[in-house]
Amino acid sequence: MNKVVTFDGAPPPGTINLGLGQPSAELLPIDLVQSASNAFLASADPLSLNYGPIAGDPGFLDSLAGFLSNSYNTPVTAAELFETSGSSQALDLVSTMFARPGDTVFVEEPCYFLAFQVFRDHHLNFVGIPIDEDGLNVTALREALGKHKPAFLYTIPSFHNPGGQSTSAARRREIVELAAEYDFLIVADEVYQLLNYYAEPPPAYGTMTASERVLSLGSFSKILAPGMRLGWIQSSSSLLQRILANGFVNSGGCLNRISAHIVQQAMDDGTLAAHIDVLKRTYRRQLEAMHDALLEHFSDLATWTKPVGGFFFWLTFARDVDTSQLRDLARDRETGFQGGAVFSSQDGLHNSMRLCFAHYDEDDIREGIRRLRTLF
Ligand SMILES: Cc1ncc(COP(=O)(O)O)c(C=O)c1O
Repeated sequence: MNKVVTFDGAPPPGTINLGLGQPSAELLPIDLVQSASNAFLASADPLSLNYGPIAGDPGFLDSLAGFLSNSYNTPVTAAELFETSGSSQALDLVSTMFARPGDTVFVEEPCYFLAFQVFRDHHLNFVGIPIDEDGLNVTALREALGKHKPAFLYTIPSFHNPGGQSTSAARRREIVELAAEYDFLIVADEVYQLLNYYAEPPPAYGTMTASERVLSLGSFSKILAPGMRLGWIQSSSSLLQRILANGFVNSGGCLNRISAHIVQQAMDDGTLAAHIDVLKRTYRRQLEAMHDALLEHFSDLATWTKPVGGFFFWLTFARDVDTSQLRDLARDRETGFQGGAVFSSQDGLHNSMRLCFAHYDEDDIREGIRRLRTLF
């Protein structure tokens, strides 16, 4: 029997919605998860199904430390790590433990739109800091620090969602210095850090935890499967102690232990690393296809910087274009995009659009861009 493949926000058949920011069914590795699960269950101790230590399953944290040490080319220890149910859950936890209702948080302009909702749940106020080709604009950050005292800065340092760019290493160092000078935390959402297609990105904030200012959020959603609901926080022991005092963590603890066992297996036997290689080769081809199609159809209409990792292109149109007004027409023409305004903390970015190259193969990407052009 054919399985019907649907997911939250699935477009009608025939539509190529380049607004979707998630992998295609072909890139979700059932075989890998099946063999890792089988290997875990074949030798599992019943106690591995019990509650576990609240920071996370110790075997998983050890394997993760090894995996990150290799990936970051810098030693990472299990003591710096806390197991989460993904970056979204980590954002919620960090908002609970490091901010109070009414506090201000600095976000990037543009910013990952669903983070706004998490921060709103905690009654936090936003101040948007612009980003440019080199990432977070440090001059603007400094100016904002003259006017506001943020609980934390939320940043997506590598292969930004939606902007695509990475904050340079020099700027990252400056931002850490500013965090010490002005006494705020950096919540670095590093979910795209390992998805580089041409060259290594600047070192992760996870390598800067000695500053005692950094909470680096990682996730298996982009490098394995969002449905695993598994990720981590890497930080200094003083900040991790505060997370360990959380009520939800203490009551349930060891968040998502079964997924952690499965992913531990995939890290240990090398299948996760091999899968990431496949993703990188595939996404690079799709990125190139999107770039070529944009050059063909959008050169006279929009500007963009070709991304070198992650999932996204960010297009900017003339000031009088409002991309949100094109959504219905896009639906009629069986295509789609994510309008820029949802990524703004200050009702801006109407003349921008985010396009994702992760969800469709090269042919569909070319056809989707061709259809998008007919909207103008
Ligand atoms: C910047 C960013 N943070 C967090 C998430 C969600 O991550 P997770 O699935 O680990 O909760 C996404 C997914 O699109 C994202 O792009």
